Parts: sequence; structure tokens; C-alpha cells
Amino acid sequence: MLSLIVKKEPKSVSAEAYRTLRTNFQFLTMGRNMKKIIITSTESGEGKTITTGNLALSLSQAGKKVLVIDCDLRKPSIHKYFELINSIGFANMVVEKLRPEEVIHKYSDNLHIITAGKTLINPAELLNVDHISPIFKGLEEGYDNILIDTPPVVSVTDAQLLAAVSDGVIMVLGSGDTNKKLCQKALQLLGNVNANILGVVLNKVTEASGGYYKNQYPYYGGEIDGKKKSKVKRESAR
Ligand SMILES: Nc1ncnc2c1ncn2[C@@H]1O[C@H](COP(=O)(O)OP(=O)(O)OP(=O)(O)O)[C@@H](O)[C@H]1O
Ligand SMILES: [Mg+2]
Repeated sequence: MLSLIVKKEPKSVSAEAYRTLRTNFQFLTMGRNMKKIIITSTESGEGKTITTGNLALSLSQAGKKVLVIDCDLRKPSIHKYFELINSIGFANMVVEKLRPEEVIHKYSDNLHIITAGKTLINPAELLNVDHISPIFKGLEEGYDNILIDTPPVVSVTDAQLLAAVSDGVIMVLGSGDTNKKLCQKALQLLGNVNANILGVVLNKVTEASGGYYKNQYPYYGGEIDGKKKSKVKRESAR
């Protein structure tokens, strides 16, 4: 079963690393009116959803009012990590004009979740700026942070489009997974829509791959020096 370490083992080294990610995230977004942040990656399976879920839990535990939206309509999985039913969700807000209160799961007082939902319409047609921009705007009030899970950047255009209507982007790099050329391509695609890349999470770091701890844990790469640059500034993991 899929699980989120911040909830399951809050005292673990990995959960601590997510709290470090939270601190960096809060620092980067502080006073910058950045609510809607997409979490994406170059390729599939690098850890977007697990990062979204753990960061959301961590922020909500710090008293932030957080909304998670599963905008990976091709391979939705937020509902699996949070053990929710995905009968209706974001797709139904777009297609059937369902209101937020009809689709929001109140996971806890501080953490609300909109799963991907279901529709027969192709995500490429469904995700268009005119449809989703007003929906995102309508959801902003009442939340400190909105974390948006997306498909990978290189294979489909969804994340590019979501980046264009969000305030910032966090890139997840699966340590040992990410192909450098494809990563550059992903950054270029995000750059094309003027995405504001806030930073990089180096995920799946193990002792063997150069990490300090034995456990797998995310490693926050810090701000990419303003915008759209591929240089990752390393910081201490703690
Ligand atoms: N830090 C980690 N520690 C342990 N397992 C991890 C970690 N990050 C990711 N995984 C595992 O890797 C797999 C992919 O993770 P996840 O679903 O978060 O990736 P994704 O980028 O959202 O994938 P997709 O592109 O398919 O949506 C899952 O089985 C997850 O449990
Ligand atoms: Mg995912």
C-alpha cells in the first residue's frame, strides 16, 4: 500500500527532510504572493506525488491551510496516497462545473484535497487556460498554499500549461533516474511558458548515491537562482 512518511513515521529522518523542504519552501514563497505551486518532473516515477503529499502534510502540520489538487488526469494517484475515493474531482469541476464544496475532501482541518476525478474527455482538451485559470482563482481564497500534482513535463503538455497558470514550479529529480538531456528539455519547455521555477527536490537519495543517510529521503536543491536556470544550488540537507 502507498503511504506518506510524514504521517506514518513522523519522527523518521525522511520526515525530518520533508520538514527541511517545508522550511525552504516557506522561505522561497514568503511575501511573494505565491499560492499555486505545481510539482512536476522530467519523467514519470521520479516522486512528484509522494513529494506533493509529504510537503502538503508537513505544511498543514505547521498550521498552514493547504489545498492539494491532483491535476495528473492521465495517471491520478493522490487519492491512493491519501486513501480517498476518486469518483469526482478536478476533472468534474472543469467539465461539469462542479463547485469546490462538492469535490473537496476535508482530510484534516488544515489539509483539503481535490482528487483528479473522472471524465471521458482527453486531458489535453480539458486542460486549457480559459477553463482552469478561473477555477484556480476561485480556490485561492481560504488557503495559504495550493499544491498541484501534475504529469511529467517531457511526455505531455499538461504540466507546461499548468505551470503557465500557477505562481511557481518545484521540479522533482529522481536521483539516478533523471536523464540530463531530458531534464534540460523539461526546463526549456517550462521556460517557454515563463514558468517560475522555485527549486529542485532531489528525491530517492541513498547512501550509495551520495546521500548522507541510509534511508531514502528528499534533498532540497534550493532556488534555481531566480528563474528557469538548470544550475542547482546545493544546500545542507538539515
Ligand atoms: N523518497 C522516496 N522514498 C521511497 N520511495 C519513493 C520515494 N520517492 C518515490 N518513491 C516511490 O517511487 C514510485 C513513484 O513515486 P511517485 O508516485 O511519487 O512518482 P511520480 O513522479 O508521481 O510518478 P508518476 O509520473 O507515475 O505520477 C512510488 O512507488 C513511490 O513509492
Ligand atoms: Mg504521480
